[in-house]
Amino acid sequence: MSIEESTVPQRSVTIIGQGYVGLPLAQAAVRAGWLVHGLDVTVSLVEALNGGMSHIDDLSDDEISEMLDLGYCATVNPAVICNSDVVVMCVPTPLGEAGSPDLGAVKAASRTVGENISEGTTVILESTTYPGTTDGVVQLIIESASGLEAGEDFHLAYSPERIDPGSQKYGIKNTPKLVGGVNDAATQAGVAFYGDFVDDPVAMSGTREAETAKLLENTFRHVNIALVNEMAKFCNELNIDIWEVIRGASTKPFGFMRFTPGPGVGGHCIPIDPNYLSFEVRKQLGYPFRFVELAQEINNSMPHYVVDRVATLLNAHRKPLNGSEILLLGVTYKADIADQRESPARDVADLLQAKGAIVRFHDPMVDTWNLDSGPIPREEDLDRAVREVDAVVLLQAHKTYQLDHIASRATVMLDTRGVAPLPAQRL
Ligand SMILES: NC(=O)c1ccc[n+]([C@@H]2O[C@H](COP(=O)([O-])OP(=O)(O)OC[C@H]3O[C@@H](n4cnc5c(N)ncnc54)[C@H](O)[C@@H]3O)[C@@H](O)[C@H]2O)c1
Repeated sequence: MSIEESTVPQRSVTIIGQGYVGLPLAQAAVRAGWLVHGLDVTVSLVEALNGGMSHIDDLSDDEISEMLDLGYCATVNPAVICNSDVVVMCVPTPLGEAGSPDLGAVKAASRTVGENISEGTTVILESTTYPGTTDGVVQLIIESASGLEAGEDFHLAYSPERIDPGSQKYGIKNTPKLVGGVNDAATQAGVAFYGDFVDDPVAMSGTREAETAKLLENTFRHVNIALVNEMAKFCNELNIDIWEVIRGASTKPFGFMRFTPGPGVGGHCIPIDPNYLSFEVRKQLGYPFRFVELAQEINNSMPHYVVDRVATLLNAHRKPLNGSEILLLGVTYKADIADQRESPARDVADLLQAKGAIVRFHDPMVDTWNLDSGPIPREEDLDRAVREVDAVVLLQAHKTYQLDHIASRATVMLDTRGVAPLPAQRL
């Protein structure tokens, strides 16, 4: 080691919240040579991480062990913030009562930062939230708890997470990262941090533009999914194959982006995040964000539509939904990951049960599946179950499913993803 190398202190970052967003960020930073403190309030999670165990799909246990070897440590002790050059907040932003934003975790994390921050630190919020959170909520809490001033004594910026869980193509490194600070110096400090492990950090003019850009991205998907969902419904009535329509339209090399219908929207970004924007628009300006509200109405209707279609298919076999055995295939919100958050499969199962159907499920990624009504029985023998039940509903097309095999054995099969061959019926 050269003299220069030995005298340069290792830069350290505290990442608050070690979930789907914070943990991959911790991996990227530690691999880039940062000393990483993974701060979380969940003791069992911190213990598991320090024991080399991962709790998210995108990171294996081996990768957690590699992180620990490189200088990562999970902790519940907020004192690690005092000696950190950078602090990044990746805490949850769920919906509260009546669909309003719940900033409880963001406020709690901001207080923790304020009580422990040193002068010169760069603080970045990554949680998805409504415009004005960084400079209107986070900044005030940190300033009042620390006595320091943003823009003078510490840098403050917003940088939305764009993680695509399960993606083999896009990760932290090759996904451009927006950074908008409370002033230019804060933006540049954020860009410098991410520049260590992101190919293309993008400076934004301010925190509110960066916050709103994230919400535009999510709302764009929400609205376009709703568009094809609504078209799927009337195309079925008109006896037009929506999947063929989409295949045709997708050949246009410009001005069209392919979205596909489905049983509803799941995960965090689509069902929840656009509410942050519509709620704030209504609160501040007094009028609705009509696109979001319409998209919500259409996307939320899809589980009902799936159940109606199953009932119609069974009817053709002279069977009622009441008493029929229905096998749901794939209950996660996205293919090939284990994440069940906000999965529309829950609504489909609830609605089927409410109509008297006997519901079972199969999912190679999910061992137990609990609804409010209780656990749903898991089928171990897929082949036998497909032959036994009255109807099979493909909700998530995990790549391990041999769909031609399943479609040829099922009495009735509804394919909500447009990937199974005949005789399966598509949405
Ligand atoms: N998961 C995604 O695909 C995704 C994508 C883009 C953006 N986001 C956004 O990123 C943010 C984080 O989401 P996530 O999916 O990583 O959540 P998560 O639930 O997976 O993880 C959040 C972690 O934060 C911890 N936590 C909560 N309050 C805390 C506090 N006060 N101090 C320390 N730790 C605390 C929790 O224990 C949990 O481990 C959300 O705003 C979300 O909208 C998520």
